[in-house]
Amino acid sequence: MAEGTANIGVVGLAAMGSNLARNLAHHGNTVALYNRHYERTEKLMAEHGDEGSFVPSRTVEEFVASLARPRTAIILVKAGAPTDAVIGELADAMEPGDIIVDGGNSYFKDTIRREKEIRARGLHYVGCGVSGGEEGALNGPSLMPGGTDESWRTLGPILKSIAAVAEGEPCVTHIGKDGAGHFVKMVHNGIEYADMQLIAESYDLMRRGLGMEPGEIADVFAQWNTTELNSYLIEITAEVLRQKDEKTGKPLVDVIVDHAGMKGTGTWTVQTALSLATPVTGIAEAVFARGLSSQTAQREGAAKQDLKGPEGALHVAAGDRDAFLEDIRQALYASKIVAYAQGFDEINAGAREYGWDIDQAAVARIWRGGCIIRAQFLNVVSDAFESGEADVSMLFAPYFKEAIARAQDSWRRVVSLAATYGVPVPAFSSSLAYYDGLRSPRLPAALIQGQRDFFGAHTYGRIDAPGAFHTLWAESGRPEIKA
Ligand code: 6PG
Repeated sequence: MAEGTANIGVVGLAAMGSNLARNLAHHGNTVALYNRHYERTEKLMAEHGDEGSFVPSRTVEEFVASLARPRTAIILVKAGAPTDAVIGELADAMEPGDIIVDGGNSYFKDTIRREKEIRARGLHYVGCGVSGGEEGALNGPSLMPGGTDESWRTLGPILKSIAAVAEGEPCVTHIGKDGAGHFVKMVHNGIEYADMQLIAESYDLMRRGLGMEPGEIADVFAQWNTTELNSYLIEITAEVLRQKDEKTGKPLVDVIVDHAGMKGTGTWTVQTALSLATPVTGIAEAVFARGLSSQTAQREGAAKQDLKGPEGALHVAAGDRDAFLEDIRQALYASKIVAYAQGFDEINAGAREYGWDIDQAAVARIWRGGCIIRAQFLNVVSDAFESGEADVSMLFAPYFKEAIARAQDSWRRVVSLAATYGVPVPAFSSSLAYYDGLRSPRLPAALIQGQRDFFGAHTYGRIDAPGAFHTLWAESGRPEIKA
């Protein structure tokens, strides 16, 4: 087959694909282009063709022929069937040694399946998490590629040329084989959900709890962005809260329907954590909170029920407003630490389950820039993993252990006042419950084991002897027997 001049190609030229193609061209790559509808390709060439070296094609065959060996193509089309269709077309047209990269938010188990199928045809298949939205795709995303070491040798330099840069380092690393990249991206999105939920609960405490206006709250988030909470999500929260609705002049946040959407990655994170028996309580509560917000029938029904409970105004109880704002900031930071610790626990559990060797410190480093959860504190997270202090749990690293110790009183005041005055803070409270569970020397799970043995003879362990035991509960008083 003919060999072309493009060292990388992009299939799927919607916003993400077009912006990634432009970013690649801006950084010295010769970029082959293909889109099912050629009009999209023509539009990109008309509007941005002079930004770098592009090679547009009308057919997949033409596209593949325009690539230099090892032919490398990044797919950015809808996850699921559209991705499968494009993979099939590319695999039919490519030759052994060529590389297919899925840059969409594909489910990691689909990626494991696809990698195996494509590898059997002599090609490389890379599932690559791309984070940072359209802006990131154009100006520097965080990139989480999986795949073989051989494919990384070709793909690595190309991805490093377009990734965001944090502390002088490109925000891309080879995560691990087959589905590792998409697994880490999935957990990134789960942490993103938790981050956003914790920010939303902080907003609710200030809005409904303290009666503050969006503009005032924006100023608080802007100030918090100068502290250890410095992050992209805190920064954009202040912008969203400052935004006025052009039509009504009201704060835009007040005219937005309060039903949160979700495309599925956060849900996958929780489903996978459940299958790995790894608590991700903050992420789970964030997913359920989005679900509750969209349960229209039940919420409309609840409004008609006049369900008894406080209205959420905690002005007086909170006492000194500035002091309570600091309480909320501390509670937010402590809960955020728990959410990240749980996310990294899930990555560890996934690595063990699927045979990946994932460098947690490297993951934290590439999340410092480009991605949606980019945050100052990821420098400390990566240090904690680098030093080994976070090996068992991020919460045991001295920096985070001390931060949570300092936040204790505030965290508990916020959760208890929110409960007393009726402001729902599921992520704050579940994170605190997880922390208290983790540090408890004895948990009520002993009683659960007794209950399970009573009704199901499921046996239990003893603290003073090895093995499994069962009690003949029917004849009370009879000694337990060693199962
Ligand atoms: C990113 C984002 C992105 C996310 C979409 C939809 O890393 O750039 O996480 O991949 O999937 O913004 O997010 P929802 O799951 O909230 O619909």
